[in-house]
Amino acid sequence: MDGNGRWATRRFLPRLAGHKKGLDALRRCVRLCMERGVAVLTVFAFSSENWGRPQDEVSGLMALMATALTREVPELAREGVRLHFVGERESLPAKVQTGLAQAEVATAANDRLVLNICFNYGGRWDMAQAAARVAAAGQALTEENINAAMALAHVPDPDLIIRTGGELRLSNFLLWQAAYAELLFSDRLWPDFDAADLDAAIAEFARRERRFGQTSAQVSAQAASE
Ligand code: FPP
Repeated sequence: MDGNGRWATRRFLPRLAGHKKGLDALRRCVRLCMERGVAVLTVFAFSSENWGRPQDEVSGLMALMATALTREVPELAREGVRLHFVGERESLPAKVQTGLAQAEVATAANDRLVLNICFNYGGRWDMAQAAARVAAAGQALTEENINAAMALAHVPDPDLIIRTGGELRLSNFLLWQAAYAELLFSDRLWPDFDAADLDAAIAEFARRERRFGQTSAQVSAQAASE
């Protein structure tokens, strides 16, 4: 969800105003995904590296999360959204930690859309914590064991990763899980990402040929036999 800061700066507003608009865009995107039958939506809201931003922006993002938890969770729970927060929690303010845990409990029985919010998350953090858990359990460091210990083990690998804001990199997002994801880079700033952008992304995804290491001929033959 990149581009909140630029969205605000272009309007001579503080960066936090962009993050607030970003939250509106996230709410809109969740609803659109439910309408379109998307089963899992995973968003990057705060990275392991974002602690290095100016103190007022970091505390503003923490406060925005605390407010969002209070204001948004009852509605999300009613709509059938199951929330998971993915990332290192111990460094977060106590109020946020409690809110995350309560939101997960309040939505645990839902199954219309799984919404993973990556918060204080990094792809490298996830790989390291998974490897540490596998080693601590005395298991072999195999792909299967690491995969099962990842913080996102409860969902399949992503089909499509969309980065808004025009940058062409993953910035430590879903490094393990992105192995065969289709990547889509949009110039749209996240607060402006709307239904037309989501539909264009889904249409572009539908045009891609996913081969998972096989040849095009194999994929076509497999599709014909189904
Ligand atoms: C990246 O844009 C965005 C973030 C670091 C924060 C994302 C947060 C939200 C979308 C709001 C939802 C938040 C919560 C707490 C649920 P940027 O600030 O790097 O933008 P820039 O590249 O234009 O500066």
